[in-house]
Amino acid sequence: MTNNNMIFIANWKMNGEKRHIYDINKTINFSKNSKIKKNLIIYCPPFTLISKLKNKMKNTNIKVGAQDIHYLNNYGAYTGSVNAKLIKSAGADYVIIGHSEKRFQDDDIMINKKIKSALKEKLKVIFCIGETSKEKKNKLTLRVLKRQLTIGLMNINKINNIIIAYEPRWAIGTGKIPNLIELNKNIKNVNKIVTDLKKNQNFRIIYGGSVNYKNINELIKIKDLKGFLIGSASLRSKNFIDIIKKSTN
Ligand code: PGA
Repeated sequence: MTNNNMIFIANWKMNGEKRHIYDINKTINFSKNSKIKKNLIIYCPPFTLISKLKNKMKNTNIKVGAQDIHYLNNYGAYTGSVNAKLIKSAGADYVIIGHSEKRFQDDDIMINKKIKSALKEKLKVIFCIGETSKEKKNKLTLRVLKRQLTIGLMNINKINNIIIAYEPRWAIGTGKIPNLIELNKNIKNVNKIVTDLKKNQNFRIIYGGSVNYKNINELIKIKDLKGFLIGSASLRSKNFIDIIKKSTN
């Protein structure tokens, strides 16, 4: 099977100093391969590296994104905050919203505001959803996903600039991934919920949570997955490239 048009997102979280950028040269060289060019690679570094990375990605197909934004579009007295306009002016084309590591402060309504704010500034959104281990244990996964998607996408008519990232919270940074039957079922449910909510519009679903170059062989068996959101395994180009290679072979 050859997969094209896959999405690979490197979520650097709170990692990355200027001196770490040189390692990305490997990904840049790799991305010039004609087969790889058919896929989308996005780097989401901390705010501090957005413009540096944007500069580095000149003449490449690699895109740059941020990891979060403030919900307000206007500038103002919000010390320590960064909004959609600011990340856009720094060079971001994408933004992650609703990541589980930010959901401690953002409820579904806030996430919906942030998504709207990003779309208003013509940013593309990587919208994260997923259940906690407690919710999974209590068999609430479907209900949680439905709630997150319904409120998160409320009053948003067009979803062509939204990538849905299913990231079970218990799988993030733990080395655990869902079994394939369960993952397949959850992805199908997400697909159905969004298709029903948004009247059959096209959109893409990716998976995130402990993706690495070993378990990718399993994960790519899920046909409805169109890519991966990768945290720790994206910090070194070598590991990130291995994942892309295996997914696109
Ligand atoms: P992980 O992170 O790959 O380190 O589990 C994924 C994510 O948080 O997006």
